[in-house]
Amino acid sequence: MPTLVLAALLGYLLGSIPFGLVLTRMAGLGDIRQIGSGNIGATNVLRTGNKPLALATLLLDSGKGAIAALLALWWAGPEAAVLAAGGAMLGHSFPVWLGFKGGKGVATALGVLLAVCWPVGLLACLTWIVMAALFRISSLSALTALGISPLTGWYFGGPLVAGLCLFIAVLVFIRHEANIRRLVKGEEPRIGAGKKKAA
Ligand code: G3P
Repeated sequence: MPTLVLAALLGYLLGSIPFGLVLTRMAGLGDIRQIGSGNIGATNVLRTGNKPLALATLLLDSGKGAIAALLALWWAGPEAAVLAAGGAMLGHSFPVWLGFKGGKGVATALGVLLAVCWPVGLLACLTWIVMAALFRISSLSALTALGISPLTGWYFGGPLVAGLCLFIAVLVFIRHEANIRRLVKGEEPRIGAGKKKAA
């Protein structure tokens, strides 16, 4: 039992590193929370116009989730990996360092899914890419990719993976509340659209 709690805590701590905020500050671009959607994720970093920084944010936010899950898997097995994955999602979304106001968890979700059950992660990534190619809306792509993941999770990984996917999907939908409202109104910006602060 303490092992599982420690795995979740390890996941939380790794997940709580706000790479988008750290990288944009280091690059002298100011506070990413004052730009675009105000989110600390790669989509919003792209709104600064710095593509390499957006790519680095995507890779690091995904990587921290994958590393948390893989470390826990190696250390204590699949249940610990799932708890570390859930912890990483909570850490990214509610980091203690930022007063529990973090990101929307999409890149971290893709990383943990690739680590915990790669076919589910791969299908989520492919769904995101296809949706983004069709509609050029990051939030819609993420909501679709992670919304179907409990089904693919069940198919490829069974109840434990499906449970993780359901947790991730619910969390990501909650974190996208403002995006969903803008999507319904047809006001959600396209990928790469400018810096204007969203409502
Ligand atoms: O990965 C987050 C994305 O789904 C939405 O980001 O900045 O458009 O709210 P953003």
